[in-house]
Amino acid sequence: MLLFTPNFIDKTGTATRAKTKTNMKSCIAVLIALLILMLSHGETITAGVKFLEKGEKKEPSVEKVFLWDSLGKRHQSRPDELDVAFEFHFKNATEKEIRINQAFTSCGCTIATLPQKPWIIKPGQRGSIPITMDVRGKAGIIEKETTLVTNEGTVVLTTKIAIGADANSTGIPTRERTEEERAANLQLAAKNRQAVFQNSCVECHVKPTEGKRGRQLYATACGICHDAKKRAPFVTELRTLAKGKDRAYWDQWIRDSKPGTLMPAFAKKHGGPLDESQIKSLVIYLTRIFPRELKTKQAIKAAAKTEAKPGKLPLK
Ligand code: HEC
Ligand code: HEC
Repeated sequence: MLLFTPNFIDKTGTATRAKTKTNMKSCIAVLIALLILMLSHGETITAGVKFLEKGEKKEPSVEKVFLWDSLGKRHQSRPDELDVAFEFHFKNATEKEIRINQAFTSCGCTIATLPQKPWIIKPGQRGSIPITMDVRGKAGIIEKETTLVTNEGTVVLTTKIAIGADANSTGIPTRERTEEERAANLQLAAKNRQAVFQNSCVECHVKPTEGKRGRQLYATACGICHDAKKRAPFVTELRTLAKGKDRAYWDQWIRDSKPGTLMPAFAKKHGGPLDESQIKSLVIYLTRIFPRELKTKQAIKAAAKTEAKPGKLPLK
């Protein structure tokens, strides 16, 4: 490949020759490096970023201020997926404290969460940065960048989602229930608010929550009732009330709820399906990310589209 360089230079104007030569050389070097990487790892490479599949585990080794498990993550999404939550893992392999001052995202549909600002990472300390992309109503390939500003320089994390094919990624069965079945379910729930976690209800109200955390857990455990297209009128619209609600508020409702209402209690001690770490991840999601989502165009649109179904239902 390098053999072509002199020919190319001869054809270019003298004024730009030197610059072109260096550019060409570095271009070729980068191309060769990419080729070798692609051949040796069989992974897709876009603009020099090696993408790790969402959820794939790897010990941090890529150096950029910190050591990272990857500077790019990707996910094959489905058309009905609302948000995709990525997590980037890092380690401070230096001898100094490093401060992460800010995290900027390239659009309102992408949210990167820092536990505090600045976030001080001690030598040897590990951490992770959750990045959530709102993919509502989107199609094709979406690539977004999150820029972390640290006292040792900036780091760009790339998240990429390909939205393709059919299946229901939240895992909530798409089977439509008849009005009779829905009313019968409601009768059972009215007698026992925990009924939703038992018997045939498990298929839709428990199974899809298994192993999930954060946004995905919200969608399957809570969104199934609270964000339903055909949301019952007595099911609260959570997005509009989320502003200013603290951790204790969400923790209490998720864990214990309120006896005498149709809102189930999710903690194991009440026969609920969620373990401590899932509840914690929901509380974090609901206090840190959820209110901000409301600000995104998509969230506002989605909320406006959610129409309460008046009617026939036997309660309230
Ligand atoms: C096939 C999936 C499925 C099964 C099985 C199911 N649900 Fe649901 N449930 C939903 C969906 C979806 C909603 C949101 C409303 C809608 O879109 O119908 C919902 C909503 C609810 C609500 C909120 C009120 C309402 O009607 O919107 C309650 C209460 C409820 N389910 C209880 C139960 C109980 C109790 C059972 C078991 C006896 C059960 N569900 C079984 C899918 C299911
Ligand atoms: C089976 C349907 C169902 C599911 C699943 C569900 N909720 Fe609810 N939720 C309700 C209903 C019905 C109410 C209204 C209760 C009332 O006040 O009568 C409610 C009320 C609430 C309230 C109180 C809002 C207010 O009026 O102040 C909060 C907060 C809440 N839910 C959060 C959640 C969260 C978080 C999850 C997921 C962990 C969740 N819910 C899952 C049905 C559901």
